[in-house]
Amino acid sequence: MSRVNQYEKLWMWGAAVLILLFVGAIVFAATSQAVHPPSHVETIDPTTAAKSGEFANPGVTTTGDGARVVMLLKMYGFAPNEVRIPRGRPVTFRITSPDVIHGFQIVGTNANMTISPGYISQFTMTFPTAGEYLMVCNEYCGLGHHLMQGKLIVEEAG
Ligand code: CUA
Repeated sequence: MSRVNQYEKLWMWGAAVLILLFVGAIVFAATSQAVHPPSHVETIDPTTAAKSGEFANPGVTTTGDGARVVMLLKMYGFAPNEVRIPRGRPVTFRITSPDVIHGFQIVGTNANMTISPGYISQFTMTFPTAGEYLMVCNEYCGLGHHLMQGKLIVEEAG
């Protein structure tokens, strides 16, 4: 057996081990840490998103037993910039962007989504603790990226 052949085998096994490690890391994150791609796929025309439909008037709507938050993330701000939602009730966030890719994160929770133009990102979550939370853009989106933030206020449900 030549030396070249031996090296080739070594590389082959090395690559196989790496592939197993990467696939293992994905399975681990998906099963034990609930990291997964969004299950909600809904498209929207980014050129008209801010002008018509629900995103023309973003804000909070209280529904029967929870709330619905419609938000627009754009360079460089959150609309609305302050959001009030009830504690202990399911709140559905629906967010899109009319310009570039932004990130939506509620600091101190596991709420974290990529907001892409052309898509409506959505998730539902219940906040067990009342208080003030910081919402930030966690995807670099331009010179004003660091200015993109908002306030989320979780209130005792009336
Ligand atoms: Cu928007 Cu960073």
